[in-house]
Amino acid sequence: MIQSDMGVVGLGVMGANLALNLSDKGFRLSVYNRTGAVASEFIRAHGQGRAIAVADDLEGLVSQLGSPRVILVMVTAGRAVEGVIEQLLPLLEAGDILIDGGNSNYQDTDRRWRALAAKGIHFVGMGVSGGEDGARFGPSLMPGGAAAAWPVIRDMFQAIAAKVDGMPCCQWLGEGGAGHYVKMIHNGIEYGDMQLIAEVCHLMQHALGLDHDTMADCFEAWNGGRLESYLIQITARILRQRDRDGSPLVDSILDKAGQKGTGVWTAQDALDNAVPLTLISEAVHARMLSARKSERVAAAALLGSVPAVVPEPDRAVYLDALHDALYAAKLVSYTQGFMLMQAAAGKNGWALPFGDIALLWRAGCIIRSRFLGDIKNSFERQPVPLSLLQDPFFAAELRSAQAGWRKAVMLAVGHGIAAPALGSALAFYDGYRCARGSANIIQAQRDFFGAHAYQRIDRDETTRFHTRWMGDGVEEPLP
Ligand code: 6PG
Repeated sequence: MIQSDMGVVGLGVMGANLALNLSDKGFRLSVYNRTGAVASEFIRAHGQGRAIAVADDLEGLVSQLGSPRVILVMVTAGRAVEGVIEQLLPLLEAGDILIDGGNSNYQDTDRRWRALAAKGIHFVGMGVSGGEDGARFGPSLMPGGAAAAWPVIRDMFQAIAAKVDGMPCCQWLGEGGAGHYVKMIHNGIEYGDMQLIAEVCHLMQHALGLDHDTMADCFEAWNGGRLESYLIQITARILRQRDRDGSPLVDSILDKAGQKGTGVWTAQDALDNAVPLTLISEAVHARMLSARKSERVAAAALLGSVPAVVPEPDRAVYLDALHDALYAAKLVSYTQGFMLMQAAAGKNGWALPFGDIALLWRAGCIIRSRFLGDIKNSFERQPVPLSLLQDPFFAAELRSAQAGWRKAVMLAVGHGIAAPALGSALAFYDGYRCARGSANIIQAQRDFFGAHAYQRIDRDETTRFHTRWMGDGVEEPLP
């Protein structure tokens, strides 16, 4: 009996499309789905001429696999993954490889990797991005976990991944939860990019008074330059889509954003690691505020509406400003995302390959963009800049985008239109490039009410001082 190269558990949209992609590349598969009818339909629709066997149960699936067994689990993150692992475990042998390709929390992956390692099973947590089409024709893949698995699975996954100049968007990221961690950051950045674009659309429509075709024209033009990216492209398409009555479809879509959790995890992780991930966190908060639709409707009636739009002759200059604001704020978002990954790498003992991460997001995934090529270049400099904002190329870009960025934020503020991502990015930028900030006041206040002590700019940072603010005003060095 011919043995399959890989087993695929779960034939939802992502599992089915990854299976077809693997099959196209010549790998023999065995597939299993909990609801058997889904597997039967999959084979009926796609099985002809393909080396894909259907298993009725997990025992059957495992018996069809060569050694070591390689099983890709594509079920919903959380309890479903846990359940499949529990069922598979008694059927597996030391050296077998189990891959979770869902959007699992990296801490779960880390725990599973440890628990399975104790039984000799190589567990891999692999981020998969690109949605349905990506999975089918070339996703971005972010594997991490048991390093011993990588030489066995590398060729299969690099064969199906998207490519940039022949380089696969699939590289090993490190042990434990490293792969799912990088996917979580990808999703956080995805939230940020989406929020920025949404804010720009809102300003175009409500502060500049543009119609949807003009907005779409702008996004198409921008896609020919530094902002070239998948999300800009799909936004242009979305803006052109008409509803049944010929009106723009987006105007009939309820303004309440959903979310499945990866953005929240990213923001929580940033707080845990003391990294100022302001833009992504704002994007998560903006989705939460959007969800309070009825409360917002009531507030709109009570608290007033947006003032008139910008006069026509001034619009072109504001459009350029919005372009520059989007570009600069996006750079802040990626800077913060990479800062967080750097902190997490240190904390978890991962040697995350930052340049490769930029490359493996360059194609296949939702945040794919031209800009990621420039980020990769930054990580190849010697020495690597302290942050992307300190990269000579990006610093020059920011200097030229800065005036437009400020103009765009002022447009939002002046028109009473919320632009939390554009605005918080600018606040971060101004805070980051400020050699002498305002935290001296905070330190003085802390010392005033709580004797928390402060350091002085003219002394060594190891020496701390307390002032008797309400007494004789004397300052004392603390032991
Ligand atoms: C991807 C996406 C995908 C994610 C959706 C929905 O990389 O293909 O990140 O994994 O599930 O974008 O996410 P939210 O429902 O949280 O917006």
